[in-house]
Amino acid sequence: MHDFPLFLDLHGKDVLVVGGGQVAWRKVQALHKAGAKVRLVAKRLCAEIAASPIDHVAEQFEPKWLDGVWLAIAATDDELVNEAVAKAANERRIWSNVVDQRALCSAIVPAVVERKPVTIAISSDGQAPVLARRLREKLEAEVPQWTGALAALMGRFRDKVASRLASFSDRRRFWEALLDGDTGQQLAKGDIAAAEAELEALLAGENRRSGWLKLVGAGPGDPDLLTLKALQAIQAADVIVYDRLVSAAVMNLARRDAHFISVGKEKGLHSVPQQEIEAILVREASTGKRVVRLKGGDPFVFGRGGEEVLAARAAGIAVEVVPGITAAAACSARTQVPLTHRGLANQMTLVTGHCQPGGEDANWRALAQPKSTLAIYMGLTQSSHIADELIAGGLAAATPVLVVENGTRPEERRFRTDLGQLADTIAREQVQSPALLIVGDTVTLYQEDK
Ligand SMILES: C[S@@+](CC[C@H](N)C(=O)[O-])C[C@H]1O[C@@H](n2cnc3c(N)ncnc32)[C@H](O)[C@@H]1O
Repeated sequence: MHDFPLFLDLHGKDVLVVGGGQVAWRKVQALHKAGAKVRLVAKRLCAEIAASPIDHVAEQFEPKWLDGVWLAIAATDDELVNEAVAKAANERRIWSNVVDQRALCSAIVPAVVERKPVTIAISSDGQAPVLARRLREKLEAEVPQWTGALAALMGRFRDKVASRLASFSDRRRFWEALLDGDTGQQLAKGDIAAAEAELEALLAGENRRSGWLKLVGAGPGDPDLLTLKALQAIQAADVIVYDRLVSAAVMNLARRDAHFISVGKEKGLHSVPQQEIEAILVREASTGKRVVRLKGGDPFVFGRGGEEVLAARAAGIAVEVVPGITAAAACSARTQVPLTHRGLANQMTLVTGHCQPGGEDANWRALAQPKSTLAIYMGLTQSSHIADELIAGGLAAATPVLVVENGTRPEERRFRTDLGQLADTIAREQVQSPALLIVGDTVTLYQEDK
């Protein structure tokens, strides 16, 4: 058996609810939201129902209370009453729902995601309500909040568009062009006037879609660690300029028809020089394309994101930065080694171990502080020097270190060591980039199997 999905217009229509507890109250609220007139039968009323404006007609259910109603909902914990409601409703051809008793229902209430006026209803035909709820949570996270504003905008302009574009296929093309454009971005910012202007311009035949540039943090590799904004930008992008640290799992979320430009930076192998990357970003964004510069971790943590923002500004291109989860936060969470912890570390430093040719090395001796965690990025090659300097600065050779290679990715590896043995551990285990070094007493909290 498979149910027929249907949305009911219950405005001003009578609906019977049998039951006066919290479950009934949730149904009453949903029915009021849909504009229904609720008629209630219940022995006892919970405080919320008692305080609400409701037509409490009787304490006991009798079939006569179904007279004139369009729908009946039984939400009592008395199976006999629930059965009686379902039976009497079926005899009168009135749709009925009995909460949590699928076999008695002629109508089931789906899990819903609301972006008014858009409603997404999910049903598992009563077989897996927990799965339906899980899907709802997923959609709640993935369907942008501005979807409702977009639908409302389309509704407001429907007649106008229909009067200008006579054929159905022209209208469909128009709406699709609107959806492919920047309207969603404008609505996300709450700029309804700009969204309407965009629609009017498109209707007037001015194809003036403006491009944008977003520096997007792709996080450490696990695609579930992307922010919602990052996911939306990736899926809207015409062009994705990415580097080596962006995982394949994240890249798979992009549109298949997007244009991918690899600027694969690898230590010692800067395949595309920074200035050239900036020139690519400016060139692509200037031609009205939606450009995502996708960077591992967070764009502003050892990601040269600042330089790209300055280049965009200099070229007069509006740029937005979408943060990502930086390797230190991700590796710390994955390994359950906190970066700060009462009694063990009251400060933390994110520092790079990779020093530009001719550039300044970090002042490791000054960083050798008690009750402090160091999260060292790009520290593999210089690990011996870094450990020597930290020890010379006053840290014990026994200071614990956790090396996390490919944190949050399927191939992740971790090695618990100490400053005295750091370089040997890295060499022996052939640790590869990307790897993060966490140095400090919070590493004592590390457990192998976590
Ligand atoms: C050029 S930096 C970029 C950092 C990035 N913007 C961030 O916020 O994580 C590259 C370094 O970040 C660290 N890193 C990035 N992703 C990592 C991961 N998944 N696991 C461990 N370390 C990572 C490594 O130290 C790597 O060499």
